[in-house]
Amino acid sequence: MNSSQNLDIRTVIDILEAQVLSYTGKRLTKAERIVIEGSWHGKDYKEIASDSGYSGYYLQQEVGPQLWTTLSKVIGNGVQVKKITLKNILLKVAKEYCIKLEASRLDDDCLVGKTRIYGDLPKAAFFYGRKKEIIDLKKQINFSKKSCIAITGIGGIGKSLLVAKVIEEILLDKSDAYEYIVWNTVTRYFSIDEIVTELISIFDLEAEEETLLEKISLLSKHFHLHRCLLVLDGFEKVAQVESFKKRLEYEDFFVGITKGRHKSCILVTSQVPLKDIAYVTQSLPIESLRLEGLDSNAAMQMLRDKGLFGDGCIQLIENYRGNPSELDTVAERINRIFGGNVQKFFDYETTVIGPRLKVMLNMQFGRAGFLSDLQKKIMIFLAEELSKDSTPIPFFKLVSGLKERLGLKVSVSEVITAMEALDERSLIETSRKSSKQEICYSLEPVVKKYILVDALGLVYDKTSASQTSNAVQERM
Ligand SMILES: Nc1ncnc2c1ncn2[C@@H]1O[C@H](COP(=O)(O)OP(=O)(O)OP(=O)(O)O)[C@@H](O)[C@H]1O
Ligand SMILES: [Mg+2]
Repeated sequence: MNSSQNLDIRTVIDILEAQVLSYTGKRLTKAERIVIEGSWHGKDYKEIASDSGYSGYYLQQEVGPQLWTTLSKVIGNGVQVKKITLKNILLKVAKEYCIKLEASRLDDDCLVGKTRIYGDLPKAAFFYGRKKEIIDLKKQINFSKKSCIAITGIGGIGKSLLVAKVIEEILLDKSDAYEYIVWNTVTRYFSIDEIVTELISIFDLEAEEETLLEKISLLSKHFHLHRCLLVLDGFEKVAQVESFKKRLEYEDFFVGITKGRHKSCILVTSQVPLKDIAYVTQSLPIESLRLEGLDSNAAMQMLRDKGLFGDGCIQLIENYRGNPSELDTVAERINRIFGGNVQKFFDYETTVIGPRLKVMLNMQFGRAGFLSDLQKKIMIFLAEELSKDSTPIPFFKLVSGLKERLGLKVSVSEVITAMEALDERSLIETSRKSSKQEICYSLEPVVKKYILVDALGLVYDKTSASQTSNAVQERM
């Protein structure tokens, strides 16, 4: 923002000190302030020392190294802060602070620079990893000028937070990149018509008693005339109505808002791929990014900051596939019940399912339309087989198992289609030893446990061909 460009180094140091204080509980020392100010002005240690009352040796050998280590932790965001990189990093920190300050001064809808922001972007006290995903998304938005990007992945994997982070970075890079940023949290009480109507009212467009198609076209014109960044967060919620008419409306919506090349961008987060929601008769210009768990360094940092240490952390990250909200839940439980001792937690051989994933699996298993009968049976078959032997199951064994054990009359192509859909929703895992070998399937431990325990009775309904959950000794 403009206000950050006019900041002097003393103010920047005050902003920095507040962050150091909240992270370490200590203020910056006088010598540290001197080193920071001198480095900002491009001076070497000797020059910094000359009018400071400290010796160059002391500042370079005693103050500097400790200071850079602390600053790397507090503001480095995974990057080492050094004397030479300090100014750029500090500018970013100050800019970020100014944006937050400006945003917090306004209540509901706020103005940041020249951008009008509507809706509440999710925030987290600490944000870990996702460097590559942020770069990729920013490239798609800024350079490839994609008009619609879908970010998919299982519940709690970090879709919403990632998009919020990308928006924050876009604003930091160029505060007037968009005229409007609209964060629309989709709820299951809204239809696509209501979402479109709400957007029309946010953009203050004239639309009285018009049809859905007309309203979509009005919205599309607005996207051509103005630079808008629209987020539809949690789009799968709108799609819980199993109706052909609705699916056609979703298609009309996506066709309409992506028509022609425009300067706007629509980011959609969804647990379910858009092609499973909309009735797709034509190929839509929608880019897709499937989000996986945090990489091991980021996940390790996250656990460390939650007070968990030791080799067990590697196993935790592996078991929960780096899913940040799952790791959050399990870390909280380990701290609360096992006093932070990861090994003790493993001694009980338990698997904790976090609330986000549970909600998603309830939705997948519970409502007609998301999981077909065959997909459900495949999931049950995998869970039961894997509870006896955790070795991933090859395709041929899956097909013969479905036919023999469940007595299903299915064609191979039906099974392949079902497996592809399950894979796209991150509900199953695939692996193969080499490119020449048959594909093997398995389940994430939490998903397996959800199926076998079936706490809400959504998995094994009366029509299920096999109900062997009671026979399966899944440890709790
Ligand atoms: N990169 C991250 N760094 C730190 N915490 C994260 C990160 N990503 C996600 N989290 C944690 O996981 C929680 C869930 O993230 P988020 O809401 O983005 O998931 P989601 O994929 O949108 O889930 P859902 O499908 O349920 O909407 C966050 O509230 C936060 O606590
Ligand atoms: Mg979300």
